[in-house]
Amino acid sequence: MIEPCRFPPDFVWGTATAALQIEGAADLDGKGPSIWDDFCRRFPERIHERSHPEVACDHYHRWAEDVGWMRRLGHSGYRFSLSWPRLLPQGRGAVNQAGLDFYDRLVDALLEQGIAPNVTLYHWDLPLALQSWENPEILEAWLEYAELCFRHFGDRVKLWSTLNEPGWSTMHGYLTGLHPPCQRDPRRALQVAHNLLWAHSRAVALYHRIWGRPEPGQGIGIALNLSPVHPASDSPQDAEAARLADGLLNRWFLEPVLLGRYPEEVLEFLRACGSAPRGHLDFAEPASQGGSAADSNPTVDWLGVNYYLPHHATADAPTTDFHLNISGDPQEASRFSIQGLFRFVQNPRGRYTDWNWEVDPDSLHEILLRIRDLRRLPVYVTENGIGLPDRLCEGQVEDSSRIAYVTGHLQAVHRAMQEGVDVRGYYMWSLMDNFSWLNGYRKRYGLLYVDRQTLQRTPKRSASWFAELARTGVLHGPEPASPS
Ligand code: NOJ
Repeated sequence: MIEPCRFPPDFVWGTATAALQIEGAADLDGKGPSIWDDFCRRFPERIHERSHPEVACDHYHRWAEDVGWMRRLGHSGYRFSLSWPRLLPQGRGAVNQAGLDFYDRLVDALLEQGIAPNVTLYHWDLPLALQSWENPEILEAWLEYAELCFRHFGDRVKLWSTLNEPGWSTMHGYLTGLHPPCQRDPRRALQVAHNLLWAHSRAVALYHRIWGRPEPGQGIGIALNLSPVHPASDSPQDAEAARLADGLLNRWFLEPVLLGRYPEEVLEFLRACGSAPRGHLDFAEPASQGGSAADSNPTVDWLGVNYYLPHHATADAPTTDFHLNISGDPQEASRFSIQGLFRFVQNPRGRYTDWNWEVDPDSLHEILLRIRDLRRLPVYVTENGIGLPDRLCEGQVEDSSRIAYVTGHLQAVHRAMQEGVDVRGYYMWSLMDNFSWLNGYRKRYGLLYVDRQTLQRTPKRSASWFAELARTGVLHGPEPASPS
């Protein structure tokens, strides 16, 4: 028998969701359109089965039932995002009272059930009125929005994150062009990544000015998508390609939020290509904005790690080419290649999902140790989970591969904790099947199965398994294979 992993009694067990992916009510009660609402309306053919988030899981109306499910599934925490265009339909200016009321009801219901809210300000649904993170007005609008949320909810919400996966949203919004605003320009992508990181750091400073320094394990952080990049072969060229990809996709985001500065080596590389972003590149708080020596480098109180898969890089990148498998047909290969720099390839020894995402818990362990070595601080796994084409048969969803996936990743988390990483909680993606961006609704991630006709929620086998884990804090390993 493999020894069970015992998690500390105050470890946070929960799930994560995002406003656009579950709420629906896209035009209801004064909500303004987001860039994603607009994209899905204008380019339905770019989304699997022409799905859209107009109704999504109708969480806007079913929130009370959903909080009930969280209680039954043993949640002590729940990570969700606020919809900026529901609160400020024009991005700034007039506040939508119905939006505040909706989130007030949700936060209060969570607290009544002993579920600590972990609130993300921005999970990709930019108000359409603001158009883009290149807009010169965006920083002011963002800080007005952040201040509204911090002041209104901050007495009850003790865990905040600024942005969800700025790396992924910039990469697909401005480099591959697959997400809105559908741009394909590496220089603009780097500028937007910087605008996001700068906006993040200003919001961290603002939060601390309003609410002061938090208790350990509380306060303000960010959820980064982190994927280790391994060289595809032993060649020095592939090692260099992997180092570059890692610098641009991981270190470029990790080091500013943890240390308050960009990685010098990556900055040098970008300067040499004439692609370094413009603006304050050192993240120190300008004195004119109330900066003082004490908070001149606003870095996070905790770090959120969204982890799904690793990458394998080769230097052999003859073209620039991007493609995402959104069908769930394993024959449809994803491609990510930047001419002359690096290309991601499949791991011949890897295990893959139907959407060609590699399953590799060791890479989560690796990322957690890297964070420990950069800065010791509280860490939450803010997302981790597996997308499967689950089916409901006679009232049951048999998703043993989800249980195996989460077991393997939690074992990696536990190992990292024993090696000194201060992991405080695990939010599984996701509470329920939801609108999975370009993948539409076929790629299911939930503990709860959502019927697309009736929107009825049915707990999958993983749901009762997760509830028991959250209740006991004890993770049993997979049963050993019987000797043949
Ligand atoms: C990360 C994103 O934050 C979330 O919105 C998404 O649905 C999951 N990845 C799964 O793809």
